[in-house]
Amino acid sequence: MKRMPSTRDVCNFPPGFLWGSATAATQVEGAAREDGRGPSQWDAFCANHPERVFERATPEVACDHYHRWAEDVALIAAMGHTAYRFSICWSRVFPSGSPPEEPRGLAFYDRLVDALLARGVEPIVTLYHWDLPLGLAEKGGWESARTRAMFAVFAAVVARRLGDRVRWWTTLNEPGWSTMNGYLTAQHPPLKSDPKLALQVATNMMAAHAMATHALRAAATQAPRVGIAANLSPCRPATDSPEDRAAAVRADNVLNRWLLESALFGRFPVDVSRCLEASNLSPTLPDADLAALATAPVDWLGVNYYYPNRVSGDAPESKFHIANTGSRDEESHLSVKGQFRMVKSKSAAATDWGWEIDPAGLTELLVRVQTLRPGLPQIVTENGVALLDEPGSEDGARVRFLDSHLRAVHNAIRAGADVRGYIMWATMDNFSWVNGYRKRYGFLHVDRATLARTRKASSHWFERVARANALEGE
Ligand code: BG6
Repeated sequence: MKRMPSTRDVCNFPPGFLWGSATAATQVEGAAREDGRGPSQWDAFCANHPERVFERATPEVACDHYHRWAEDVALIAAMGHTAYRFSICWSRVFPSGSPPEEPRGLAFYDRLVDALLARGVEPIVTLYHWDLPLGLAEKGGWESARTRAMFAVFAAVVARRLGDRVRWWTTLNEPGWSTMNGYLTAQHPPLKSDPKLALQVATNMMAAHAMATHALRAAATQAPRVGIAANLSPCRPATDSPEDRAAAVRADNVLNRWLLESALFGRFPVDVSRCLEASNLSPTLPDADLAALATAPVDWLGVNYYYPNRVSGDAPESKFHIANTGSRDEESHLSVKGQFRMVKSKSAAATDWGWEIDPAGLTELLVRVQTLRPGLPQIVTENGVALLDEPGSEDGARVRFLDSHLRAVHNAIRAGADVRGYIMWATMDNFSWVNGYRKRYGFLHVDRATLARTRKASSHWFERVARANALEGE
């Protein structure tokens, strides 16, 4: 048996391994009303329900990346990045969600892509990172077939403009997490709580993913590699009891397998379908959408990993809450009556927001994907840790987090997974959705008063790793 590397070993990564970090439009751009940008569902949510966001934060200014992009690209290159993942704001391109196009929108991303390439940084473009244009959200959003048709139109327009230079594409960011919170936990827009509808919307989004995949393949001139960024979390039974083990299977079916396997194979897993039918939760799709999905298995998979789930079968009620204050006394709740309830380990390390830290979970997921579709290229498209850091914080916790998770990636590569890159979340501290600005993930500290960027110690550590294409031993 091969010995797994310890922290004492040097870990060399494959030649050409991509080293980078990520952002998303809503979280960093700001300039929410500039150059013809239309409103998104998140602008409306923050304006209409300020009490639901920590300190009533909004993405109106965010990190002002829309104006500071040149400085940001210079910093990205200085940090030794060979890749940068960002998303396109749909309502900058189509202010109402549908044509006509606003030319200043795509011009921004055009400049950004050129600037990245000029510095040797590979762009990884996400088409949709939760910022559904309000014009579409108000007409049924992802519940409506029109939204998925418009998503394909949007994908084609972006691909025609950037597809001569961008090679790595993800259609959707985390359709699982955004649907769960929009339609089950009611913590994100559109604030609904209906398990059947949640599964239907997740299923609709996979049809939209398929349609966008076809649009990208048809319109991009430089052979596009089309993937999806999936939020994956191992679902482990809280105890060895048969109830907890069964609940872990149920959670894995809907939180991981439904979307993952449809992305990998172009069809939904039959056994999960049967379970959903038995519970009267079965989603439906028109034949044309199923046919589009069948011919759109991904060219690569983006894996977003933060924490594993510990699952209990003792779920007497539905209860939902995302802990968003960073106070260790505040509890998160994800409990679906009669199905599963997530519980916290008392002993495992966790962030101040209660997210368990477990690098082995990342190895497990990458190897699982490799087992399902051997040889499929994968990129860790998000992984990172939120801290309450201030400028000059020693940042050792983030370095330890990155070191342990990079070793976990290396373990997966040694076990045969074709992992092509590691994209840390996030390039800079940003608007962390309902967590506002307190939850800091960045390589760059962003001062909320001046918006000045300062490199954290972890960015220097990561730069050394990236330039060496290797983790040093002790
Ligand atoms: C992912 C998202 O779910 O995790 C990011 O793709 C997000 O947009 C990140 O910021 C961390 O989550 P949160 O809620 O702590 O910001």
